[in-house]
Amino acid sequence: MAHDETPKVSMEDIISLCKRRGFIYQGSEIYGGLAGTWDYGPLGVMLKDSIKRLWWKRFVDDRLDMYGVDAALLMNPKVWVASGHVGGFADPLVEDLKTKKRYRADHLLEEAGLNPAGKTPAEMTEMISINAVKSPEGNPLGDVRQFNMMFKTNIGAIESEENISYLRPETAQGMFVNFKNIQDTFHPKLPFGMAQIGKAFRNEIAPRDFVFRVREFEQMEIEYFVKPTEWRDIFESFRKEVWNFIKDIGLEESKLHELEIGDGDRAHYSARTIDFEYDFPFGKKELYGLAYRTDFDLKAHAEGSKVDLSYFDEENKERYIPHCIEPSFGLDRTILAVLATAYRTDNLGGEERVYLKLSPAVAPYTIAVFPLLKNKEALTHKAKEVWKTLRDIAAGKGISSAKITYDEVGSIGKRYRRQDEVGTPMCVTVDFDTLEKGTVTVRDRDTGEQKVVKVEDLATLL
Ligand code: GAP
Repeated sequence: MAHDETPKVSMEDIISLCKRRGFIYQGSEIYGGLAGTWDYGPLGVMLKDSIKRLWWKRFVDDRLDMYGVDAALLMNPKVWVASGHVGGFADPLVEDLKTKKRYRADHLLEEAGLNPAGKTPAEMTEMISINAVKSPEGNPLGDVRQFNMMFKTNIGAIESEENISYLRPETAQGMFVNFKNIQDTFHPKLPFGMAQIGKAFRNEIAPRDFVFRVREFEQMEIEYFVKPTEWRDIFESFRKEVWNFIKDIGLEESKLHELEIGDGDRAHYSARTIDFEYDFPFGKKELYGLAYRTDFDLKAHAEGSKVDLSYFDEENKERYIPHCIEPSFGLDRTILAVLATAYRTDNLGGEERVYLKLSPAVAPYTIAVFPLLKNKEALTHKAKEVWKTLRDIAAGKGISSAKITYDEVGSIGKRYRRQDEVGTPMCVTVDFDTLEKGTVTVRDRDTGEQKVVKVEDLATLL
């Protein structure tokens, strides 16, 4: 197979590589796991970090109109009443009448070849009955009802109705409640936005597909405030930015598809939504969302808190509540898309191998430095010297020094396989020629080709 072709990859392959190489482990694994939770290992943390940095660079650092925040996960419960989440953040649930197991009614209908889009629970119950849809175990199903997905918790020492709060199901509300703070501190003119990266929690009825649908995940979100008449152009500019961002992180444009969400299928706050779907190994599914949230949230919080959240437009001498465009990026789904897109197998020098064709911008390591032999002091000493030099060069170029790694465990062949599997674009081997002639061998991850380079020319690799 040609080196740049994307092969078919199974979820089992990805999950197995993630565990084998320290990207992602099952949550609470030694206790048999906890459904819908996954723990990121050292390589996963580095991959996540690279993606977060690229997102923050594009949407915050490289702009003058964006304000970064990091709001508390726990919020006053009135936030979730005003936002509409207490009343309406629910998925349709249906129970297997025999086993009492619960399923997403819309998923069962889709799997039966029916379209549940825009249907009420009563209508879904009728569809199940008319089409004799059964549970995955082949048992009859009960009535469809709405199930609120927010995790409830109690604040303080007393468990009572008054001190119930929720783990946030989206990072967005942490920005809406700080709208006034940003206005009062920085006095920005419209349009301007707020950005945040952080955890969100949803009590998903049926977590599945590895980190695609989980109960605890990370979002990278923007709430961008605009004059009500200007929302269309800004919606379009963020639409383009989604495409630009997927290129930053090495996703394939041919795998990204836009889906205009129809009336009746959008979230309660949205007057227009485009879902960005990606070709995952299990099919085309939502990766990101872009929504026009109108003035729904600021208006709701102004009413709920009795605090004025309007904006005074100096130019036109008018006061109004800004409207909001929200691009929302799931970080865990991004990780899955990046891994699935990069996964490759081939035969290199007569040996089957797996490698990750990650873009150097997101690869956990950019360069791995090896001594040819572990038990030759002169080689390990020199290799560590080369590693330190490369780290310093990387730091000087604004690349995290953590991206230059050193590896002396196992044979050279095993080290190459290990670095291939974590997607390290280049390996630099220090051998006896390094000591005599000042040269090293540089190996390319994708082709396996090796070339001899002078140590002082290594800077050009970065
Ligand atoms: N603030 C808007 C919002 O939260 P959403 O479509 O519900 O909108 C936004 O979620 C993104 O968060 C999704 O496009 C997806 O990438 C990610 N996401 C949502 N639920 C998720 C889950 N259970 N597991 C992993 N990622 C999820």
